[in-house]
Amino acid sequence: MRELADEREETRERLVVIGEIAAEVAHELRNVLQIISASAYVARQDVDRGDATAAKPHVVKIEKHTRIAHAIVDDLMGLARGEPLQSEPILLVDAIAVARDDLAEAAAWDDTFEPRGIRLRAHPGLLARMFHVLYENAIHASAPRVPTIVTRARIESGRVVIEVADDGPGVPEAIAARIFEPLVTARAGGTGLGLSLARRIAMAHAGAITLLDPVASPGATPPGATFRVELPGSG
Ligand SMILES: Nc1ncnc2c1ncn2[C@@H]1O[C@H](COP(=O)(O)OP(=O)(O)O)[C@@H](O)[C@H]1O
Ligand SMILES: [Mg+2]
Repeated sequence: MRELADEREETRERLVVIGEIAAEVAHELRNVLQIISASAYVARQDVDRGDATAAKPHVVKIEKHTRIAHAIVDDLMGLARGEPLQSEPILLVDAIAVARDDLAEAAAWDDTFEPRGIRLRAHPGLLARMFHVLYENAIHASAPRVPTIVTRARIESGRVVIEVADDGPGVPEAIAARIFEPLVTARAGGTGLGLSLARRIAMAHAGAITLLDPVASPGATPPGATFRVELPGSG
């Protein structure tokens, strides 16, 4: 009896994880599908006018975002199923560049990597996705202002420590203790799934992610938010 109850509990937990990640997959796919359908619409008009040259970049965009859609499903559902991570040696700067691919203009970026060529063993797509969550949140929280986002990376006792700090309004105190829980959001239109996914990704890499206490500096405006990610080094 005891075993059956344990098994049921385990199944329930797995379903919670799958549900949580599937909701995030749906949310992200919707954005990608919007881009694909807008590009298809424009390409279609170009083709109807007999202007294949004008259609070409839109077709390329459709191809790119179709690949992105596949990656979202493959990477995230792999994580949801608890499959072993497909990790490989990567450069931290590369994962961060991918994470910023669509955010380049949305923030002022300031990086300190010590040393510059920090390597780790990670799933490249998932690692980039984790940083994307942090960057996107900083940008959302600061809107309509364009924030400065500082990324500091260093090695501490063989672990890679990365801090992402913005100069936005900071995390609302009422939810600060729970922001890594699914469905916790203080943002209109938010899902509250970004940081719970980020935490799952960090944990799948035997790492951790935390929100640092805002520095108590009276009068400092704006206070901003700082997240700290810790990952195993490349060994
Ligand atoms: N950099 C940040 N600055 C201020 N608030 C933040 C920041 N990052 C996260 N938050 C807060 O944490 C909440 C949860 O974030 P997240 O899990 O990504 O869900 P969502 O972005 O859908 O709300 C956000 O709604 C926001 O209130
Ligand atoms: Mg978010």
